[in-house]
Amino acid sequence: MTIQEYIDTNKERFLDELFTLLRIPSVSTDKAHDDDTHHCAVQVQEYMVKAGLDKATLYPTDGHPIVYAEKMIDPSLPTVLVYGHYDVQPAAPLDQWKSEPFEPEIRKTEIHPDGAIFARGSTDDKGQFFLHVKAVESMIKTDRLPCNVKFMIEGEEEVGSPNLVPFITKYKDLLKSDVILVSDTSLLSKKHPSITVGLRGLTYLDVKVTAARADMHSGLFGGAVANPINTLCEMIASLKDEKKHITIPGFYDDVVFPSDSDREMMRNAPFDPQEYMDSPGVFGLEGEEGFHTYERTGILPTLDCNGIWGGFTEEGSKTIIPAVANAKISMRLVSKQNYEKITELFTEHFKSIAPDSVKVEVHPHHGGNPYVTPTDTIEYRAAAKAMEATFGKTPVPMYEGGSIPIVANFKEILKVETILMGFGFDTDGLHSPNEHFGVWNFYKGIETVPHFYQAYAEMSQEA
Ligand code: BES
Ligand code: MN
Ligand code: MN
Repeated sequence: MTIQEYIDTNKERFLDELFTLLRIPSVSTDKAHDDDTHHCAVQVQEYMVKAGLDKATLYPTDGHPIVYAEKMIDPSLPTVLVYGHYDVQPAAPLDQWKSEPFEPEIRKTEIHPDGAIFARGSTDDKGQFFLHVKAVESMIKTDRLPCNVKFMIEGEEEVGSPNLVPFITKYKDLLKSDVILVSDTSLLSKKHPSITVGLRGLTYLDVKVTAARADMHSGLFGGAVANPINTLCEMIASLKDEKKHITIPGFYDDVVFPSDSDREMMRNAPFDPQEYMDSPGVFGLEGEEGFHTYERTGILPTLDCNGIWGGFTEEGSKTIIPAVANAKISMRLVSKQNYEKITELFTEHFKSIAPDSVKVEVHPHHGGNPYVTPTDTIEYRAAAKAMEATFGKTPVPMYEGGSIPIVANFKEILKVETILMGFGFDTDGLHSPNEHFGVWNFYKGIETVPHFYQAYAEMSQEA
């Protein structure tokens, strides 16, 4: 039986198994779902065994377990390490879902005329890592696996992978591999394959501006004391100039843009502004002057306020000058920017712009560094060849806006480069209500992955 025949014969079952995974609410950030998240890991482990993989193991961590499995066929052959995550974002707001978030349902959409699987985690990342399990199963069961393969599927990606760096540091030998393969990013479109070559890094902070011991009467004190909400807004607003360029001194020091030819390729990649706007329902586009939208999300850093609160927010009115104001601020980082350095630059600058009338506190959360995949390698050429085989077109190298912080650690700690071969679309509603993953995309992924293994094995031998 050929790989394709095996896929065709087992198509329905592949989808059923994915549905089983999608029914488990593995929300890593919610303690109420800890048992579900653990149950999901066990289910993934079971599917690894079913796929014909060996040593399927749950490695416990201080948080959610890591699922590992492998198929070592010959130590002289190259080894592919597949990384993905079985945890998902919370489903809220529930009233905005057209079907239950944890009861997958297939519905047709304009972009997915063959149907899309609507469920939390369908594209991010259960459908995407599971297509690797099914692709590898198809190679194993038809006796056509041309490389060794290892799987590491974690349960804490959506909360910043707090336990994964210690794990990969401790298990360097277990994870020894020649290339890391990840499907947790997007494809430009069905007709325009792409390989993600850039992921942004991230730093996330809480800031607190205090002006007084307690809220004050706004008639007695208003106009004569600092209003911390006004002050916080002024401070945040000053972090960008009129061209939307970030004003923190030294912020751009480590930003190196990709080559002109790479930028040209991105600018020429198909882009439908209306479709891009329609997906979240925005009224217009804005960003730093002189850059294409793809460049604004892919090769430029950002600074955004994720939430802001303070003072009186109940119904009705209460005439006060609040004592305290808070905000959550994140920065997406690119190129050689280092999240610890940027966190320091931000903290120093933010404190320096505060007037004497307030006290400012900055509390950093998790962070991660950006990553750029080199394209002059065997693994990149193998990935491009695989996509050419199934899409009939050479993929565009794309810099993407999202973050998978552990990928930079793979390079630092395991010394291995990562190929980001995603099969979802940016419009699939990841982290949003009605998240979905195209049925076409799921099968396209299963068909493309074996071509990667084949090309990678061949090219490694030639080299
Ligand atoms: N899969 C996404 C990241 C992604 C999506 C990258 C699409 C490129 C294209 C991942 O699960 C994610 O959501 N990452 C978080 C990281 C954070 C929690 C540290 C992000 O980007 O916000
Ligand atoms: Mn993801
Ligand atoms: Mn995510």
